[in-house]
Amino acid sequence: MATQSGALLVDGLTHSYGGELAIQDVSFDIAPGEIVALLGPSGCGKSTVLRAIAGLIQPAQGQIMLAGKHLGGVAARERGIGMVFQNYALFPHLTVEENVAYPLACQHVPKAARKERVRELLALIQLDGFGRRLPRELSGGQQQRVAVARALAASPALLLLDEPFGALDRALRFDLQVEMLRLQKSVGITTLIVTHDQEEAQSLASRLVLMNKGHVEQIDTPSTVYDRPKTLFVNSFIGQANQLRATVVETKAESAVLKLDASGSSLTLARRLDYAVGVRIVLTCRPEQVSVHAAATATSLPARLIVSVPLGPTLVHDLELADGTQVRASQMRSGAAFVPSLGDQVHVTIDADHCHVFPVHSISPSELNKGAKL
Ligand SMILES: Nc1ncnc2c1ncn2[C@@H]1O[C@H](COP(=O)(O)OP(=O)(O)O)[C@@H](O)[C@H]1O
Ligand SMILES: [Mg+2]
Repeated sequence: MATQSGALLVDGLTHSYGGELAIQDVSFDIAPGEIVALLGPSGCGKSTVLRAIAGLIQPAQGQIMLAGKHLGGVAARERGIGMVFQNYALFPHLTVEENVAYPLACQHVPKAARKERVRELLALIQLDGFGRRLPRELSGGQQQRVAVARALAASPALLLLDEPFGALDRALRFDLQVEMLRLQKSVGITTLIVTHDQEEAQSLASRLVLMNKGHVEQIDTPSTVYDRPKTLFVNSFIGQANQLRATVVETKAESAVLKLDASGSSLTLARRLDYAVGVRIVLTCRPEQVSVHAAATATSLPARLIVSVPLGPTLVHDLELADGTQVRASQMRSGAAFVPSLGDQVHVTIDADHCHVFPVHSISPSELNKGAKL
């Protein structure tokens, strides 16, 4: 299928709405044919970035280049960009065929070529034979595929998807994500997908651009973002992260010792830590890195089990440490050596090798757990 793909370069995008900064110094790139996800909580500026790339708003600052061409000053319809919105925005009074053909008609593509292209696109989205229907005669998932076909009709160099599965239920979303990946690969088009759903981003994209409050926090592959988060925000937004307050008490070339507020006990990290003795830190660990035991060990912290919830193959425990800090642990249900009961006094250990450490002075208060004692 004759769709071009081009590299996208976004450099230093900044934009305000009526004096309120919505995005600040946003930079990232996408390789030709790559699919990248712009991920972050609602209101962090994802759609603003997309609108600036599409040419629907003029950013106050920054450059956008597509396939080696500067887009500043290029009108939206001249940019060679296809876009799909959350609500699909199909024309309700036009048939599926007419919807898909619309961008071609705007470009005055001759009727025979238009017809051929529409036939090709309907085959691609596996809706041959649906051409004469109106959007309201299709399911949500089918309408979404028609919106994608329409976005691809004029062979754009870049496909922008803004929360394209947002209006669909969970089971259908997964099927459509798989379908979207198949389409994207078969067309080979450079794609930027916006989502607030971390699982969706991880399953679709080769790299994630993590946004928070208008700026970029980290750009990496899904597994790097999960395993090596650069900030506490990224750590907590992708998956779950327990937070424990501690102080650095000893640093060596290859190890460091922390004193945990929750128990007054120490935890040794078998790696170098570049913070001075006395620095206050937040130590984070995933629920799967916390284990629960009946008896105390040299490195365990006393805890009380508050609630346990079975979740598929795992059992999730919410525990309270001596100082009131809440910690979540997850264990596999099958083959568990010890399964605690509600109200039990238990002992938890933390896998120190997989903990992350963030100095308190680098953290904005909104990212700390409620009731944080700094
Ligand atoms: N047209 C607009 N006028 C004024 N403020 C806006 C407008 N669009 C978005 N905003 C504000 O800009 C910020 C970023 O919005 P948006 O880019 O839509 O975020 P997201 O897509 O991540 O949810 C939000 O604070 C939002 O309220
Ligand atoms: Mg949005």
